Amino acid sequence: MICSAPGKVIISGEHSVVYGKHALVTAVNLRCYSEVRKSTRVRISSELGETGLDFEVHPYVSWAVKLFEEKCGKTVTPDIRIRSEIPVASGLGSSAAVTVSTLAALGLEYGFKLSREEIFELAREVELKVQGRASGVDSFVSTFGGAWLMPEKEEFKFSAKMLVINSGESSVTSEMVARVAELRELYPGVVERIFEAMDSVTLEIKKALERGDNKALHFLFGANQCMLKAIGVSTFRIDGIIAELEKLGIPAKITGAGGGGSILGLIPESLRKPEKAESVDGKIERLGKCTVVTPEFEGVRQETGNGR
Ligand code: PMV
Repeated sequence: MICSAPGKVIISGEHSVVYGKHALVTAVNLRCYSEVRKSTRVRISSELGETGLDFEVHPYVSWAVKLFEEKCGKTVTPDIRIRSEIPVASGLGSSAAVTVSTLAALGLEYGFKLSREEIFELAREVELKVQGRASGVDSFVSTFGGAWLMPEKEEFKFSAKMLVINSGESSVTSEMVARVAELRELYPGVVERIFEAMDSVTLEIKKALERGDNKALHFLFGANQCMLKAIGVSTFRIDGIIAELEKLGIPAKITGAGGGGSILGLIPESLRKPEKAESVDGKIERLGKCTVVTPEFEGVRQETGNGR
């Protein structure tokens, strides 16, 4: 059986969401494919290598197998092949997508079909096992697809074309979350007020996306990025890339934990005309490795045919 699940981007609300504020997250049109076949011993192969159950090299898939066994009450020895369009460790949700697609394919292959709710719950458990702490947003979006206002789980629709640029610096989510927690301890009055402002910005971004208001998005993305910088998660390199994107008329900000990782830009309607896009493309490519993504409304699904 082959199942696939999408990656995600955080449009707004990273870090403040950890303190109960709103976040806007959307699934994107990059998918991870897991092919699961019954076999006589566990084998997991991916771009990370070929292993058996291995909690170092393939922690998410290995925990998915283990928790699936607990759920269905039997031992399984699958041959699992992973193929992913989602760059690993770039803040685009590759871990959640591999977990969700593997759980769904295990269920189908072993005749223990899991509902979406069950896949989400198990994937969230896997995330907790591997990361120690997790908001569950990635697993939710990867399972159900679509764009969501969290924590309400209120779905919204928009069609913006988005640009994700890798800053070339690595981003470690736990380190960035700890850095922000430390600042909040030192300056609670300042940092809490920043989180409150981020919360308002997130709600306004949702409205601006729904009505396609690019002028508002420029202001709101700019304000959001300034606040992310204020809480210490931007870098000189990120600031430079964002300034270049703004010059091109693209509202941009960090997406995910920051300290490196990815930058999200919203490609305005006016730049989608082929002749303009061409002149802009060359300039953008010089900024870093970039991927153009669109919102994806389909979550985990079974693939027909041979996905290899
Ligand atoms: O970089 P990512 O995709 O792991 O996103 C982290 C988002 C944070 O808000 C910084 C942490 C969290 O658990 O929500």
